[in-house]
Amino acid sequence: MALPSGLVVEVRQEVPFLPKVAFTLISLASLLGAIFTGLHLGLSPAWLLLRWLLLWLCALALGFAAWRAFYLRKEPDLPEASEFLKEEERVWARLARGLAWPLALTAPFSLFLSYLGGLKGPLFLGILLLAAALGAGWPRAAFASALGLFLLWAWADTLTPGGFLLRALHFLAFGLWLGGALFNLGVNVPVSMRHPQVPAVVGARQLERFRWVVGFALPTVLLTGLGMALAYRLPLPAFLAFPFALIPLKLFLLFGLVVIFITCPLYR
Ligand code: HEM
Repeated sequence: MALPSGLVVEVRQEVPFLPKVAFTLISLASLLGAIFTGLHLGLSPAWLLLRWLLLWLCALALGFAAWRAFYLRKEPDLPEASEFLKEEERVWARLARGLAWPLALTAPFSLFLSYLGGLKGPLFLGILLLAAALGAGWPRAAFASALGLFLLWAWADTLTPGGFLLRALHFLAFGLWLGGALFNLGVNVPVSMRHPQVPAVVGARQLERFRWVVGFALPTVLLTGLGMALAYRLPLPAFLAFPFALIPLKLFLLFGLVVIFITCPLYR
């Protein structure tokens, strides 16, 4: 059975620590970003947190659906892996149903984000559609709904083509990364541990596909983030005072993620 060159398969006894740290750091970086944006939109702390919660849930859904739709593939050269793949599909469907509930329950809050104007309704319906697709176990429909939601949201928050492109790419990288990390921790690693022999190779192949996604997400959040920060045209010392100081703090978190990417065997 062929492994991608340089890839080492490890049989693990417990869900590893570093991917959990990575998941936490990505979430934290997104919270800092949402605080920064929410303050500029004039939201109160409670609405700011609710808006972040909605963004975070949509991001989880985007990357989680992407993994099931694109990185989990049939392995014709490994017929004995079919049980492993079926189990991954079952665990994915169970977690997807678990994700559908908080999405459906928080969707109505989007109707109260008055700064969104006429886009509130489509956003609300989009979130319900996403929850329905996850609940029904349709990864491609869930992926398409989450992608549409992020594009709509990026447009609503910027309304200029340049700003839209930067924010949409920032969201896309965030979602693919965060939701992929959820699949990694919640599906790939636990199911691989229950099938330590041949199918571990299949899990490793999926991880190898995800590695490319992280390789895209890391420079993308950095470049689009710097692009959004520079658009404020402020002198550098301004980035030492709140709320602009949140941006160097995000750079620091990203540095931690780069270290994990380089040192953690799950991302190498
Ligand atoms: C893992 C890394 C990162 C994640 C997950 C992340 C995620 C996010 C999210 C979710 C938002 C919120 C947007 C909103 O509320 O509408 C945001 C905003 C922002 N991020 Fe990041 N980000 C990351 C890294 C960075 C880096 C490294 C920079 C810059 C060096 C950066 C700069 C910004 C800026 C400037 C905004 C606010 C844009 C604005 O509203 O004008 N981000 N980020």
